Amino acid sequence: MMEQRGAETGSTACRVFTFKDAKAPQESLSVCIPEVLDPQYGMYVWPCAVVLAQYLWFYRDQLRGKAVLELGAGVSLPGVVAARCGAEVILSDGSDKPMCLENCRRSCEANGLQDVTVLGLSWGDVSPDLLLLPKQDIVLGSDVFYDPEGHFVCLKVCSSCNSSPC
Ligand SMILES: C[S@@+](CC[C@H](N)C(=O)[O-])C[C@H]1O[C@@H](n2cnc3c(N)ncnc32)[C@H](O)[C@@H]1O
Repeated sequence: MMEQRGAETGSTACRVFTFKDAKAPQESLSVCIPEVLDPQYGMYVWPCAVVLAQYLWFYRDQLRGKAVLELGAGVSLPGVVAARCGAEVILSDGSDKPMCLENCRRSCEANGLQDVTVLGLSWGDVSPDLLLLPKQDIVLGSDVFYDPEGHFVCLKVCSSCNSSPC
């Protein structure tokens, strides 16, 4: 995987991640993730997200047509990679975190993803949006277990949508 700095607009700067495969050199994927120049969580790509995105790229053949939900997506690198690999993706962040939800939308726009849904899902809240979610095949979460209290509620979200966490 390679990483480059891209264009800057206002308070955002685009980071470009390029995924390659030594066994299939003709295959590669570049995604652009706008990061916000703000130290709050969910404003930039955390190191875990890079590892999870690489993992998804490695297993990209198994993602096509899968329903994938990302929790605490922030700028959404793993969800964007999954969508670019053919998954049907829902990105989510806290319903009380409009800036993070805006980051999810900005990342979709930057990668031409028009079919990705962005939802406010706060862990532990049994909201109508959570109850109306269709069954998900895979739930993604990178750097969302930093608060021990969050573990249980994240797992509860996974069980609400009949999925295993990744
Ligand atoms: C450390 S950041 C990780 C962001 C992104 N997953 C990444 O790895 O780049 C944690 C994310 O979880 C979100 N988050 C924190 N508490 C949350 C909650 N109670 N419900 C939903 N999302 C939450 C934050 O807004 C933030 O986007």
